[in-house]
Amino acid sequence: MQIVLCDSADQVGHRAADIIEARLRRGPAVLGLATGGSPSSTYQELIRRHREEDLSFSQVTAFTLDEYAGLAKDHEQSYYSTIRRELVDHVDLPLEQLLTPQGDAADLMAEAARYDAAIAQAGGVDVQILGIGANGHIGFNEPTSSLTSRTRVKTLAGATRADNARYFEEGNVPRLCLTQGLGTIGDAKVAVLVAMGANKASAVQAMVEGPVSAFCPASVLQLHRTAVVILDPAAAGNLSMLDYYREAQKFNDQLGQGQRRGS
Ligand code: F6R
Repeated sequence: MQIVLCDSADQVGHRAADIIEARLRRGPAVLGLATGGSPSSTYQELIRRHREEDLSFSQVTAFTLDEYAGLAKDHEQSYYSTIRRELVDHVDLPLEQLLTPQGDAADLMAEAARYDAAIAQAGGVDVQILGIGANGHIGFNEPTSSLTSRTRVKTLAGATRADNARYFEEGNVPRLCLTQGLGTIGDAKVAVLVAMGANKASAVQAMVEGPVSAFCPASVLQLHRTAVVILDPAAAGNLSMLDYYREAQKFNDQLGQGQRRGS
């Protein structure tokens, strides 16, 4: 795991955008996109680079990480609508190249299998952007999720529903979702997790320095060959080896190719 310590949320977005840009400049790419607050600064920076520095998404195929079950694509709070608002509608990514699990599919299990197959058919995800839940989830793989799981239907934890209640009218937060599995996420060539804020500090500590455990699903990234964890000071606040991470970061930055090395 490569730990990147930043001074601010904006800098977190910058560092994550650097990794994505480096991949996009090399040709057609498959991106995995998280929704939620964490990747906001990354998407803002990517939009800026698209507008001001000619960064093109025309050769990108994008797969979202997850979707609420029961919500149609055009529901305001579907992750399809959200990722359009947050990123896709502001860059030149053709809409037909934005793929999401269909939350209102009649057969959710079949839809999950179809989604995994579509990712494989696209050649797999090159760079997967992730946030982390305060309970250690990535995607919507809640604590106790199988570390080798594929895309499937999951029950949202009470804490996750409470965190996301701000987006819904009272009592309307969905209870089920479709989410890429931990095994699906692990297949991405590069995994980039961004986290900000003190409410993520204990999950970040468990992910980076705790045991690999289904109880902290994000800890599965310890098994990933190229996982980059980009943190603001508050999210890094509980880590015990900050001096080491800073030292390693210095050398990685000097090499200028941190994201392409093993970690
Ligand atoms: C969203 C997702 C979730 C979020 C996580 C953090 O697609 O997969 O894992 O990344 O719940 O959410 P925020 O960033 O809103 O704190």
